Parts: sequence; C-alpha cells; structure tokens
Amino acid sequence: MEQAEIGLIGLGVMGANLSLNIAEKGNKIAVFNRTTEVTKKFYADAGALQGQIIPCETMEDFIKAIRPPRPIIIMIKAGDPVDQQMELLKPYLSSGDIMIDAGNANFRDTMRRFKSLEGSDLTFIGMGVSGGEEGARHGPSIMVGGTEDSWKRVEKVLTSISAKFNGEPCVDWLGENGAGHFVKTIHNGIEYADMQMIAEIYGILRDGLGMSAAEIGGVFGRWNEGRLDSYLMEISEKVLKANDPISGKPMVDVIVDSAGQKGTGKWSVIEAQNMGVAATAIEAAVAGRVLSSLKSERQAAEKILGKPALVERPKDGMAFLADLELALLAAKIGAYAQGFAVMAAASKEFGWNLPMPTIAKIWRAGCIIRSQFLDEITSAFSKDPNVANLIVTPAFSQLVKETDGALRRIVSYAALNGLPAPALTSALSYFDAYRRGRGTANLIQAQRDFFGAHGFDRLDGVDKHHGPWGSGLADFA
Ligand code: 6PG
Repeated sequence: MEQAEIGLIGLGVMGANLSLNIAEKGNKIAVFNRTTEVTKKFYADAGALQGQIIPCETMEDFIKAIRPPRPIIIMIKAGDPVDQQMELLKPYLSSGDIMIDAGNANFRDTMRRFKSLEGSDLTFIGMGVSGGEEGARHGPSIMVGGTEDSWKRVEKVLTSISAKFNGEPCVDWLGENGAGHFVKTIHNGIEYADMQMIAEIYGILRDGLGMSAAEIGGVFGRWNEGRLDSYLMEISEKVLKANDPISGKPMVDVIVDSAGQKGTGKWSVIEAQNMGVAATAIEAAVAGRVLSSLKSERQAAEKILGKPALVERPKDGMAFLADLELALLAAKIGAYAQGFAVMAAASKEFGWNLPMPTIAKIWRAGCIIRSQFLDEITSAFSKDPNVANLIVTPAFSQLVKETDGALRRIVSYAALNGLPAPALTSALSYFDAYRRGRGTANLIQAQRDFFGAHGFDRLDGVDKHHGPWGSGLADFA
C-alpha cells in the first residue's frame, strides 16, 4: 500500500477538519485517535476522500503507514496532554521523524519540547494554525517553527492545504524552535485587540447613539466595503444582524456580556512586559475581557456608583459615523504596530530572525485577523523590514496623520459620556506618547533619585547623576 505523506493524531474538530483538508488536496494521510470509535466514524464520514485516508487503530499500524522521515501532527488539547502524547509516541519513532504540535501552545512549552529532543535523532515543529474550524477544513494560515530541514519535509503538504491570498500560500517557516507558536500567540493578542476595539465602537453606537443591533450591523457592513474590510468586521455584521430563534430578539441582545479567554492574549501581554515592549492596546483588550468576566461585581458597582449619564449627543450623525470609522482604523494601526514591535523584540531575544513582511503576508488570508489592511502592512515591511515601528513607515505615518484626529474626537466623546473605550484610548495615548520627543519621565527619574538615589542622565551630558536633595547632594561636592 502506498504510504501516507503525513500522519495526524487527534480527530477532534480541528484535527478532523485539517485531515480532510490534507486529503482533499491530494495528499495521503494516516490518522489515529485514542478512541478507535472516533477514527472509525471519521473514516466512515469521509466519503469520497476515503481513498486518501489510512485510518489506523494501533500505533504500530499508524507508524508503518507513514513515509519516513515521518511528520506527525499532534492536534490535541494544549498543555500536559501534548507531553503525554509525545512520550507515548517516541518509542515508535525512528531517525528524522518529526512531531508537530499544531495546537495553541505556549511557545515556552514549545521551546522546552524542542530542547528535550536535542541530541536525539527526532525533531519537533511548533506550528500555529489559525482560522478556526472553517480554516482548518478549507485553508488556514499556518505559522511554522522548527529546523529548516523539518520545514522542507512538510513544506509541500502544508503549502497545499494553506489559505491563498492572490494565489500566494499563507504558510511559511518563521524560524527555529518556538518561533511559529510565538507568532501565533501575537496573532491572537492582535485578535483580542481587534475584537475589543470593534466591541467598544459597538458600545458607543448602542449606548451613546441608541442604535439597534441590526442598525449597527448595517454600519459595520458598509465599513467592511472600505478600508476596514476584514473577516472580523464581516462576522460582526452577520452576528449583529442575526436574531435569536428562541426569543426573536437580536442574538447579541440575549448573550451574557462576559467573554472567556484561553490564554494566548494574556501570554502576548506577559511576553511584551518581559521584553519591555509597550503593547498597551493589547493589554487593554485582555483587561477588558477580565473586567467583562466580573459581571456580578459590575452590576453591584453600578448600583453603588451609578452609571455615568450621557451628556452630549453628536451634532452631525453622519460626521460622527465617519469619525468612528476612521477612529477604528487609527486604533487598529496602534494595535498592529504594537504586536509587530513585540515580535521584533522577541526575534532579537530568542535569535529567531523573524521575517516581518512574511508574517504580515501569511496573515492576509485564512486566519482570524485576515484583512486587506495586512496587505498594506506587508508592503510597508517589505520596503523597510527593520523599521523601528510600523507607525513611522511612510505609508502608516501618513495614515496615522489622516486618522488620529478622528480617534481623538471619539475617545473624547466616549470619556465625556462615560462610555468605556480602553483599547481605543490606549491606542491614542500610545501614539501621543510615542511621537513626543520630550516626555515626562524626567520627573520620574528625579523622583527615583530622590527616594532611592537611582541616578539620572542630564540633557547637557554633564557627568553629574544626582539631584540636590538628601544623599544626592554629595554629587555636587
Ligand atoms: C484562531 C483563533 C483560535 C481560537 C483562540 C481564541 O486563530 O483560529 O485565535 O486560535 O479561537 O483560541 O482564543 P480565546 O478563546 O482565548 O478567545
């Protein structure tokens, strides 16, 4: 029997869809699931794709079915189960075989797993896969981290199953060990910010202007035809226009306002902090989810403190909507600039040499944050891959100048009317702080020196590093 090009363990929703995608693109795949019934059902349901699938009931058969060196995708719950699965798999593997973790792993786990195989003849790929169920089935964006040789072994299969943007595959090798999972984490951090900002704009339209869900859906639909064209905008329109079959009310109006999170957003922020990168809009988005989860505390606080009253209605509705659209675009630029800045720092810290234009390129289709906007980011980074920050590239500095006035007006409106807009506000403050050559940390340095003799540098370069207070007086002697 012809051997499979690749194997996959874990036929849950993502694993099953990814396997069908692999089979459909003409690749032979061997599949295995801990519970044999799941494998049998998957195979029975595979219909015309059965010819490309080798369903395996034992690990021995699974291993035999794959062409060495064997790439084996592990698509199971992130965390300990991956380590357990790797241990179960190892005794069956031989030289050059590649275990591929395609879950949403913490890149630090990926680094550890990669390292644990060093010196053995096995290797490991940490692979970020974005696009949800639909993406896995018909074309995800795939971020690969591992050795270049292991990438070469899987390149053909992964290229065949990935999403395409204008015919270009949305998959690439991004660097050694944890690079793929790190980039996927930052993708999710940006995803959190994108979603939070859209939700804040929704809040301004709902609670500030009193618009219905369907009306807001209409506005988002129009924006989706312009520069905000993106998958998240598209699904927000659909969601807002949908009605609940049970109550007949708009679906969003019956959904509890507490959002869950599985960790990738939080990891983005933790890693940004670890590396000293200001990712304020992403931080605000993660904090927004935390605050959302405190439903009963918020309800109690509203009773005690009251909800701020609306003090102002926009005078010109059309102009206000135009401002909102530009404000969202401006804030989005801030979030993406921050995400890319975190990746640039990580690239140095972990020696990955992350290719920024490639990352933007493989996010243009297939993934959750896919958009036209990412094509603009691709060209900006292609022209200057080592630029300090996206917002100082010629194209984006121009865009910031065109849109930040609107963001300022919308943030002011939200603040005056007590409408929470933490991510929009953070993006604005980030722009304002980043482009101010003379900030205010001179005072902080003086304070630190005053209470802790921490010292400071002087603008005039004079070699005196303490102020004329307390113990610092010695410096003037
Ligand atoms: C993707 C998504 C996917 C998943 C996230 C959501 O890129 O396909 O990001 O990975 O939906 O895990 O994360 P939260 O559950 O933390 O919102």
